[in-house]
Amino acid sequence: MSLANDGIDTLHVPMGERSYDIHVGDGAIARAGNILEHKLRAPRTVIVTDENVAKDWLKPLQKSLDGANIRNRAIVIPPGEHTKSMQHLEGLLDDLLAHNIDRKTTLIALGGGVVGDLTGFAAAVVMRGIDFVQVPTTLLSQVDSSVGGKTGIDTRYGKNLIGAFHQPRAVITDTLTLDTLPMRERLCGYAEVVKYGVINDREFFDWLQVNGKKVLAGDTGARREAIMRSCANKAEIVAADEREAGLRALLNLGH
Ligand code: GLY
Repeated sequence: MSLANDGIDTLHVPMGERSYDIHVGDGAIARAGNILEHKLRAPRTVIVTDENVAKDWLKPLQKSLDGANIRNRAIVIPPGEHTKSMQHLEGLLDDLLAHNIDRKTTLIALGGGVVGDLTGFAAAVVMRGIDFVQVPTTLLSQVDSSVGGKTGIDTRYGKNLIGAFHQPRAVITDTLTLDTLPMRERLCGYAEVVKYGVINDREFFDWLQVNGKKVLAGDTGARREAIMRSCANKAEIVAADEREAGLRALLNLGH
């Protein structure tokens, strides 16, 4: 874990040639262009986001990418779990191909878990697999779904039954996105934070007993620490058992 003086902390997820970094801090979206300029195969991206997230965060992300001369087009989908469906996947794949993407284009998932799962799966299958970057905007997606490469859609037989393991090229977590998150959503994400203390990290659990209220109240240092330690726990488990042969199933506690 490295604590940078620009306010953005970096955590490495060691997965061989599919290794990647998670960048966490207030204002990370404004730094996305700098973070990505040396990570992309080519300076071409398509941002996938939903209408709610787009209102606050699409322009800042595009401005940052523009500043690094990274081409960025946007596809805005409706908000809600129903977009994790075959129908919306098909629509998204059509839109991507209509945008003339190529194998060096990178998709950027800007949003919560639904956007991340759908976009990641589209990236896994379009043109037999292209890169994608996660820019999670809810606490739940920042500490769980954006890390570890599970992507997919729901089916009438159950959730996430069609999908792929496809690791992101990078994760950019802007903690400022949590400022407008309703308390109910914060609590949903916080349950995932506590999960890491329960399944893997006693010391973190003890830290949360003292600092949990500060995390929920939006204290800058406390929430960054909670996200970094959650991601470190998740990265450790995913690196040991990417495809959920055993250990990774612990991460499903409470799901
Ligand atoms: N969200 C559970 C996992 O990533 O394995």
